[in-house]
Amino acid sequence: MKSSLVFLLALVLPAVRAQVPHWGPCPEPAVQSSFTLKQFMGRWFEIAKLPAQFEKGRCIETNFTLKTDNSIRVVSSEILKGELRKIEGTGVIEDMKNPAKMGISYSYVLPYSPYWILSTDYVNSALVYSCTDVLRLFHVDFAWILSRTRTLPDATIEKAREVFTSNNIDVSRMIPSRQQGCDKTL
Ligand SMILES: *[C@@H]1O[C@H](CO)[C@@H](O)[C@H](O)[C@H]1NC(C)=O
Repeated sequence: MKSSLVFLLALVLPAVRAQVPHWGPCPEPAVQSSFTLKQFMGRWFEIAKLPAQFEKGRCIETNFTLKTDNSIRVVSSEILKGELRKIEGTGVIEDMKNPAKMGISYSYVLPYSPYWILSTDYVNSALVYSCTDVLRLFHVDFAWILSRTRTLPDATIEKAREVFTSNNIDVSRMIPSRQQGCDKTL
């Protein structure tokens, strides 16, 4: 028991340290209304993000597939130090009344982390937000701009940042993800 707790902390703490924790509980952003999970499935490229310790590589993309039990197979990949790395996770919709609020877990020892689709048109871009309260004293959050292609027009990115900001999400530290030179073989 004690050792598994230490293991969990070892996994979680670096992720927390990489972020700037914000005081107070998580914001409560509006999410995509009448979200259609099926249309969201498939391949999404990461265009920009709030820096996350666990994503250091380039060419980051995620492929979502519906499984027969209605859970979601989540395969994320990146190129790090010249190697293609993949991790697989499981996504779930916990409350069918709120389908845009998914949870994703990349390991059976970790709880589901929030994965909220704030906005998407399914065919071009998607804005994703994840926030975890720590004792309601402060919160640690992640935000991503995803795209169906490896680039998005600047105007779309600017609009996306405004959506985050208008939902009280601080994206001043958001950085572009590297999606150059990804399609040639390693
Ligand atoms: C996404 O996953 C599905 C199901 O595993 C697979 O058939 C498909 O080829 C994958 N697409 C990409 C781009 O990896």
